[in-house]
Amino acid sequence: MTKNLDELKIPKTLIFGTTGFIGKYLFNFYKSFFPDIPSFSRKNSNFDLENLIFPSNDFLKEIKPTYAIISAAISKINICEEDTKKAYKINVTGTLKLIEFLTKNDITPIWFSSDYVFDGNVGSYSEESLTNPITEYGKQKEILEKEIPKITKGNHLIIRPGRVYSLNLDDKTIFSEIFSHLIEEKAYRAAKDQFFSLTYIEDLIRGIVKLQTMNARGIFHICAKEKINRYQLALIIADKLSLSMKNLFSIKLDDLEETFKRPKNTSMQNAKFYKSTNLEIRDINTILDLKKKEIYTSAYE
Ligand SMILES: NC(=O)c1ccc[n+]([C@@H]2O[C@H](COP(=O)([O-])OP(=O)(O)OC[C@H]3O[C@@H](n4cnc5c(N)ncnc54)[C@H](OP(=O)(O)O)[C@@H]3O)[C@@H](O)[C@H]2O)c1
Repeated sequence: MTKNLDELKIPKTLIFGTTGFIGKYLFNFYKSFFPDIPSFSRKNSNFDLENLIFPSNDFLKEIKPTYAIISAAISKINICEEDTKKAYKINVTGTLKLIEFLTKNDITPIWFSSDYVFDGNVGSYSEESLTNPITEYGKQKEILEKEIPKITKGNHLIIRPGRVYSLNLDDKTIFSEIFSHLIEEKAYRAAKDQFFSLTYIEDLIRGIVKLQTMNARGIFHICAKEKINRYQLALIIADKLSLSMKNLFSIKLDDLEETFKRPKNTSMQNAKFYKSTNLEIRDINTILDLKKKEIYTSAYE
């Protein structure tokens, strides 16, 4: 076991927010290499960003992690709009305190930002593109992108994933939402005028591990190259998985009549990540071709 770990150079990594979608996958991955890592969540009463409940210094010294991934946040865009104060307390104040605490303990933080730091006017954003968020969620992410480097003095990783999906129908992702509607023959209204990038959950984990093993630091987009809208994505899912398209309707984002505006084109380039790691982040067609069977098994079991 130790020899393998040395060969793979997977560093000991804590996960904060293990009940969430991304956190759950990350935790299962690192736990399989480091069975002694604890699961930090509100459910376990050992972690809370709102009330600043963190592990003790002594506990960290005992576990000796090299990295900590923060996957805890108020990640729903509408909740950030509706309860801005609470979201700020968690996403900004609490998260910065946790990053300070980790840095003091010589643990390199890895934190997730988002494509919502961009205003969505042009798309194809690189890591160097200017940020100009138009939602509260994006504004909170932008504050952290600016503050983290001051705290860590550059010893951090900031990851901007695309829309992250798994093929597990129990995970409430963009894939499960579209697939469930189509297979149950329920009407699905998908916007044609909002473009984004996609990231398959396994590729996100592979990408993070690769950056860790290279000792990379700074900000990286981990997403597939393709720029896609929800309607196109639904067409691909229907086509690849032989589902009827008769209940699929194209709409405009504004037809949703949300109380706030969303950015229209937050697609991102992944050239910096690819150049640094030589790792391909697979597009949706590739993933569906590879995993078709698994999806059917999970849908009909
Ligand atoms: N999913 C995506 O497509 C995507 C894309 C780009 C960026 N991101 C970012 O990636 C990160 C993880 O996203 P996700 O999709 O996994 O989010 P998620 O499923 O909503 O999970 C959020 C996690 O945060 C925890 N949390 C909420 N409030 C907390 C608090 N006060 N103290 C401690 N933990 C708290 C939740 O715990 P409870 O179970 O206790 O509520 C849950 O474990 C977020 O920063 C998100 O903004 C996600």
